[in-house]
Amino acid sequence: MQNGMKICVIPGDGIGREIIAQALRVLDKVTEKFGTRFEIEEALMGGAAIDATGVPLPEETVKLALASDAVLLGAVGGPKWDTIDPAIRPERGLLGIRKALGLFANLRPASLFPELKQACYLRPDIVAKGIDLLVVRELTGGAYFGTPKGVEVRDGERVGFNNMIYAEHEIRRIAKVGFEAARKRRKKLCSVDKANVLDVSRLWREIVLEVAGDYPDVELSHMYVDNAAMQLVRDPSQFDVIVTENLFGDILSDEASVITGSIGMLPSASLGEKNPGLFEPIHGSAPDIAGQDKANPLATILSVAMLLRYSSDSMGAQADCIEQAVQKTLAQGFRTGDIREDGSRLVGCKAMGDAVLANM
Ligand code: IPM
Ligand code: MG
Repeated sequence: MQNGMKICVIPGDGIGREIIAQALRVLDKVTEKFGTRFEIEEALMGGAAIDATGVPLPEETVKLALASDAVLLGAVGGPKWDTIDPAIRPERGLLGIRKALGLFANLRPASLFPELKQACYLRPDIVAKGIDLLVVRELTGGAYFGTPKGVEVRDGERVGFNNMIYAEHEIRRIAKVGFEAARKRRKKLCSVDKANVLDVSRLWREIVLEVAGDYPDVELSHMYVDNAAMQLVRDPSQFDVIVTENLFGDILSDEASVITGSIGMLPSASLGEKNPGLFEPIHGSAPDIAGQDKANPLATILSVAMLLRYSSDSMGAQADCIEQAVQKTLAQGFRTGDIREDGSRLVGCKAMGDAVLANM
């Protein structure tokens, strides 16, 4: 779309609809302030899609997403669909759309907002060194998608298996994303693998070293995944960008985001070779507080900022405006329940949205 953007919006399940509602108000404000036009179309995924169509990712949704410049997602899943056939669980929708859109690179920033320091789970002397890192997780390969996979009977008992498999080109393209990201930050890249045990990791390391030749300005290090998990709590300040395969990245990105104490604050981007990318908060659908106007909409609002920054070359100012408004809102003391502290102004989802709009 010229002079604007077509966005496929997927509210999903649980708190999805409430947080997306605030994100859409932010987009309206961007239009008001900058004149940028957004065409919004809503689509179904996850539990909501299962209830309406019987599958977690209707073809209609993929079609709409592919015809858009970007996809904005709330969250999917919930206890209601926990016991259904694994082949159509809500999570299948998420994995399916990642594959269908070719979203091989998942960018998950984990940083400590100075205003939320006290929420951090780590010791003050560790917090004082700061946390500002980015996990670049490979998203369409490895054990999540590798074949053969399944559960079958061998020698009279069941065996279950998956295959952590990577082709060179898959490693090369995610390594490039890691190096490029590091180049725009503090120029340090840590590649995480398990090369002391896994063959697939040995190839991973070889290819990363090859790609490093094109990035002499970026300082590259390698770390085994068990050590990385430990170092993340021992001294997260040592990390700038971490690049790793799908399953390791799933685990490490949860760890990195939770130590900040404000998982309700963190956005993420999933990108392919070209648009549309998919943008979503890191947190889940929080069914326990759904429909009560208690959810923190800030991670979704910050996902909108990422969406504008990564889906267009010309919307940096709009993204800055949103991020600064969030920062200001925190500085003013507005807090939802998840980041509540003594002396803060406890607000609900909608009132938090109001505060961000006022600060834009
Ligand atoms: C994530 C989630 C998903 C994943 C699940 C819901 C399929 O944990 O986005 O990190 O494992 O990738
Ligand atoms: Mg995860």
